[in-house]
Amino acid sequence: MAGSTRSRTRVGIIGAGPAGLMLSQLLALRGIESVIVESRTREYCEARQRAGMLEAGTVAALRAAGVGKRLDAEGLEHNGIYLQFGGERHHVNFRELVGRTVTIYAQTEIVKDLIAARLANGGLIEFSASSVSVSGIGSSSPVLSYVDPAGMAHEVTCDVIAGCDGFHGICRPLVPGLSVYERGYPYAWLGILAEAAPSTDELIYSRHPSGFALYSMRSPEVSRLYLQVPAAEPVEAWSDDRIWAELQKRFALPGGAGPGWTVTEGRITDKSITPMRSFVAGPMRHGRLFLAGDAAHIVPPCGAKGLNLAVGDAIVLASALSALLLEGSSGPAGTYSDDCLRRAWRATHFSYFMTSMMHVLPDDPFDDEIQREQLRYVTSSRAAATSLAENYSGYESPKFEA
Ligand code: FAD
Ligand code: PHB
Repeated sequence: MAGSTRSRTRVGIIGAGPAGLMLSQLLALRGIESVIVESRTREYCEARQRAGMLEAGTVAALRAAGVGKRLDAEGLEHNGIYLQFGGERHHVNFRELVGRTVTIYAQTEIVKDLIAARLANGGLIEFSASSVSVSGIGSSSPVLSYVDPAGMAHEVTCDVIAGCDGFHGICRPLVPGLSVYERGYPYAWLGILAEAAPSTDELIYSRHPSGFALYSMRSPEVSRLYLQVPAAEPVEAWSDDRIWAELQKRFALPGGAGPGWTVTEGRITDKSITPMRSFVAGPMRHGRLFLAGDAAHIVPPCGAKGLNLAVGDAIVLASALSALLLEGSSGPAGTYSDDCLRRAWRATHFSYFMTSMMHVLPDDPFDDEIQREQLRYVTSSRAAATSLAENYSGYESPKFEA
């Protein structure tokens, strides 16, 4: 061991994902100091391929947080999404139905922007930390301990600890009497990133007898595509050729999208498999420990909600902590968990709804009919389409007031 050191900060944050970084940035805007401790390297955090679709409220919050410049220049604003089934592609226009748009801007870019903003303002982010632990969450001065990459042991005394350490983090198990609600799904998503100009202007959610496929993008030159695959599928089972053939099949429109329409192919630069899960744990607070983002809830990605929920939690937590730490008012901290769990359950229902409408279960003719009827309904009834649009584009997103 290279020695040990003690220090003090107001908020100790575990995890440099969207929740932890956004929280640190919003606290800094209110003059509240924080330290972020992250087990991975900066490069790993900035390159981890995940979300891409932002609700209107998330875009507004990133702007209010002072990290809207590149988002405004490079983000792709979409009016809605396409739902494809039974050989037809239908547009659901959110702008027309609920007056809101959504924006494609990758999580990797949000993470880069927030890290740069924190470091430029003298914020401390300890990457590559090991032996991260928390003690004294029942007291008014909990301690965040870790070992930095040079081997120095740190003990940081805090007013509050924020567990923004994702689904596999150490903070959630520290909440006694936690209630956990969980649902698994018998399929996973194979996701690829490809150097290929998207051949669609907006996202296509396609239900095909061979399984669900999603056509998303990262830029006018880069496509992000997903395929429903069996739950325990090894990524090695999917050669590049097999992936492109399956994508062409699942997005094909016999009667359709213009002569010769195909999925543009290109070099695949990233390939991974993500299991599907719904998970909600509460309460999201115990004493001086607050959970935010994936540390407390996970949704299957078909509703594009996880990152948006994580940013929403950070906004509500930043307000609660400024009331607590600057004004001595514990009211907002007291309602933090209930506020966030209510939003998480709305997103959990919507993500479950999208997932179970779009994915194919083999040999289940009843489910097949129910799904196709639900798709017919949301693409023909204005009331049903409005509900989908309201949820997808962000229902009751919290606002950041500086
Ligand atoms: P994370 O991003 O998981 O960050 C947690 C951080 O904590 C990590 O950096 C981790 O290394 C760190 N950590 C963990 N344990 C420790 C420890 N002991 N000590 C220190 N650090 C620790 N969401 C959307 O809104 N829209 C989408 O379009 C979308 N698409 C998705 C597609 C895919 C394929 C996947 C996998 C997810 C998608 N999501 C989407 C979900 C979204 O990516 C997550 O909800 C989001 O990353 C949650 O952010 P977070 O900060 O809570 O957690
Ligand atoms: C993505 O762009 O990665 C993305 C978009 C919408 C989703 C899921 C993922 O529902």
